[in-house]
This record gives sequence, C-alpha cells and structure tokens, in this order.
Amino acid sequence: MNEQLLKYFICPVCLPVEIPLDCQVEEAQNNDIINGTLSCSNCHAAYPIEEGIAFLEPTGKQPVSPKQNKYEQEEVVASYLWSHYGDLLNDPDWSDAYPRWSAQIQPASGLGIDLGAAVGRFTFELAGKCDFAVGIDNSTAFIRTARDLMREKKTQILLKDEGHIHRRETVELPESWPQSNMEFIVADALHLPFRTYTASITSSLNLIDKLPHPLLHLQEMNRVCKKQGAQFLLSDPFSWSEEAALAEEWLGGREEGEFSGSGLDSVQKIFTTGSHGITPAWREEDKSHVWWKIRTHRNHFELIRSCYFKGKR
Ligand SMILES: C[S@@+](CC[C@H](N)C(=O)[O-])C[C@H]1O[C@@H](n2cnc3c(N)ncnc32)[C@H](O)[C@@H]1O
Repeated sequence: MNEQLLKYFICPVCLPVEIPLDCQVEEAQNNDIINGTLSCSNCHAAYPIEEGIAFLEPTGKQPVSPKQNKYEQEEVVASYLWSHYGDLLNDPDWSDAYPRWSAQIQPASGLGIDLGAAVGRFTFELAGKCDFAVGIDNSTAFIRTARDLMREKKTQILLKDEGHIHRRETVELPESWPQSNMEFIVADALHLPFRTYTASITSSLNLIDKLPHPLLHLQEMNRVCKKQGAQFLLSDPFSWSEEAALAEEWLGGREEGEFSGSGLDSVQKIFTTGSHGITPAWREEDKSHVWWKIRTHRNHFELIRSCYFKGKR
C-alpha cells in the first residue's frame, strides 16, 4: 500500500467521529507497505496490510468465499477485465463506456476516489486526471487483480469462448498509463476510511443498486468531497432489487413516496437541492447515459444503459 495514503485514513468503525489510524510497518519496499497493521487508538480495531493490500472494511478482514460474493469468482474477474480493458485487446465488440465517463472528469489537483473500482479501469482514468487516485472495492479478488495490473502493467485473462473452451490473452497497459500516483484498497463504500472534505473527485459506477443503503452511499461520497472545487460522477442502470436492499431503501423504482420515479432523477434532486445532508449543494454539469457492456462468453454479452449524473461544487 502506497504510504502517501496514510494521511487521508481514518477509522471506518468510529465514524462519524474521525480518528486517524496509526501504522505499524513490518515490511516495506520504498514507499510501498507490503505487510503491516493500521490501528485505531479509540476503538482498538486493527486493519491488516497483507501482500501490499490494505483491508479497511469496518468488519476487518473477513474470509469471503466466491459462493458468497460472485465478484470473488475467477470467471467474473475475467469478465470485468474484458469490460475494463477490451480496447487494449483490440476487441471490436468492446463498448467505450469508460472513456466516455472519463471525458466527464476535468483535470484537478488532489485526491480522486473511485468507489466499487472492480479491476480498476476508472481508477487509471482518474489517476491521469488528478494528483493521486485510489480505487476501493470490497472484493479482494478484484483489488488483487487491479493492484497486480498496476504494478506489473500486464495481466493474463482467461476469456471464455464457449462451455469449457477458454482463450488466454494478455492485457498490457500502455507505457503512458499512470502507475506511481495510484493505489487499490479493500474497503466498504458505505463506511469510507477517508477524512471528511479530502477528495477533489469521487466516482461511483454501477454500484449504488448493489448496496443495502443507497442514500448512505451518497452521503459518504459527499462527506469525503471537498466543500469547493470537487467533482462527483455517479452512473448506474438502477436495477433495484430486494436481494441488495429493502424496497424502502431504494432511491427510485417505486410508484409512491419521496423517491418515486427514476433513481437518476432522485440523485440529481438530492445533490442539486442539498437535501438529506448532501451539503453544500452541487451544480449539475451533465445528466445522460452510456452503453456499458459485460462479456460472459464469445456469443453472450450484457448491454446495460448506465445513466449518469455529473455534479460539481
Ligand atoms: C457492477 S460492479 C461495477 C464495477 C465498476 N465500478 C464498473 O463500473 O465497471 C459493482 C462493484 O461494486 C463492488 N461492491 C459491491 N458492494 C460494495 C461495497 N459495499 N463496498 C465496496 N465495493 C462494493 C463489487 O465488488 C463490484 O466490483
């Protein structure tokens, strides 16, 4: 874990009280902490750093099986590698969603945080736009893959063609892509281990409908953003499901109540009116959609209309 991140960290368990974390380093290579422990002097929680990965979920490091979380499965990792880096494989079926989202972000000084980063494409995009970018995700398999790719600048991808037939390809990052001003950590998008008012950019792509408390997610993103000179990008298909969140938690997809209608309209309203503690209010810069694609196998793709709101304050 890049030690530059230490100054931003707080204990996710003690929120809303902000307690900086102490770091005990056991092994480091230059500014990369390979093994160590982050700890809170208030609640005494300990967050391990293992093989360069910091585990900052409020529950600490919990073993999660691929059965419990599909984002830990090898096939799903391969699917997301294709979705994020298919352009580098010159695949004509790839959708250009990530460059389109990236075009929404203006260069800025300071920290960028990509929530639900998966295998990291948008974190690379942010690292090209700000001083330091961090991708967070609660899937260890995703974060390990993203971090290895950042360090090695290449990774193998086992693409499923059909049934048991797979094809091995290599994703190789262009030399010009960032490397030293970025990091990936395991953390929870609902309890961000970052100080209030620190980030210049936050992004949440295709994540909010996967969370049990979508409004808390918005409040957490708002909390870590600077009061002035901050950008916010949220994009989602708003595929609300009771598997992820109780219907009363949804921010759209309901006939009645405060959040009736579309999730995108609710996000826009909450941000631009400064309601539900999302203050100071944000200015809308754009509201539209991109077509995002996930590949299951050679003949099977998911085409998703991901609707975004871009705000600034
Ligand atoms: C549908 S994927 C989208 C990934 C990526 N943002 C993209 O658009 O390609 C949702 C991601 O959110 C992550 N995720 C789900 N719940 C999370 C949580 N509570 N905290 C952090 N990440 C979470 C998943 O592991 C997965 O990487």
